[in-house]
Amino acid sequence: MKEIGIALLGLGNVGLGTYRILADHARDIERRLGARVRVRHILGREGGRARPEEVPAALFTPNIETILADPEVAVVVELMGGLTPAREYLERSIASGRHVVTANKALLTTHGEALFSQALARGVDLHFEGAVCGGIPIIRTLREALAADRVSSIHGIVNGTTNFILSAMADERATYADALARAQKLGYAEADPTLDVSGMDAAQKLCLLASLAFATRVSPQDVHVEGITSLLPLDISLGSEAGYVLKLLAIAQRSSEGLDVRVHPAFIPSASPLADVRGAFNAVLLQSAALGASLFSGLGAGSLPTGSAVVADIIDICRNLLAGVSGRLPMLCSPYLQEAPRVPAIQ
Ligand code: HSE
Repeated sequence: MKEIGIALLGLGNVGLGTYRILADHARDIERRLGARVRVRHILGREGGRARPEEVPAALFTPNIETILADPEVAVVVELMGGLTPAREYLERSIASGRHVVTANKALLTTHGEALFSQALARGVDLHFEGAVCGGIPIIRTLREALAADRVSSIHGIVNGTTNFILSAMADERATYADALARAQKLGYAEADPTLDVSGMDAAQKLCLLASLAFATRVSPQDVHVEGITSLLPLDISLGSEAGYVLKLLAIAQRSSEGLDVRVHPAFIPSASPLADVRGAFNAVLLQSAALGASLFSGLGAGSLPTGSAVVADIIDICRNLLAGVSGRLPMLCSPYLQEAPRVPAIQ
């Protein structure tokens, strides 16, 4: 059976989920693909967690050079997070003709245009389903399934950590600090949880969603951002008494003046489909001209849900590779091409 070699950069929470999905679902993946996906290297991060037993020590390498020097590596999967050295490693991978997958929303919202342009010029695929809403296939939905529709608004719960915290405070009367500690322990929070609780992680995801939905380019500086750090238990209980649930919402909507993009806590009526989204679940409610209202929900954070989105991207790339059509599909649908118009944001 044909084999396609890949390398994982990073074996944190999502990296391990990716490794486990590849191992545990290997037979299904082989049947779907008609080829085997083989992890040839894992870039170990200094100070990283202890090696899980199921991952052979021989796979680890401390430097990117070993990976780029291996001609059998066709796909590089960046799961390190952060900008440095993730950006450099992705750029070098693309420059060497490797297809790439990343779940790094911070990197894509900061350097996405340059990375997509580089990938386009080099004729390689760059996929990023795992960057937004963990296991929910929302990037594919916007890029492919709804490519013919006209989205007018996005209302989303797109950060698992803050939704976990707000749910625990509302349902169990947990304290903010306890709920955050639990979200960290369960592997939902970013390495720096300030990104979650400040609303910045949600803003980064909203940029990617809005860019795809409105075929434009939205950057974090276009987004009005308010996190959950100044909320009080009283806010939650008063809202609840009045029939409302407090959620951190990510909103993008068209208006006559441009695009309104914001992230902030909002009281939503308890009858709304978003009110029932609890714990680390995420949900995205779209309004579009042809489909009307559509709701996408599922686990938005965590090792296996996000790992499965990453592996779906790897499978997509392998399909393209096997069909000899690499570098075409994602680029046609990318909002990051330089010609993409910029819709003025309303502040
Ligand atoms: N920290 C993120 C969250 C992880 O809580 O949603 C998934 O992107």
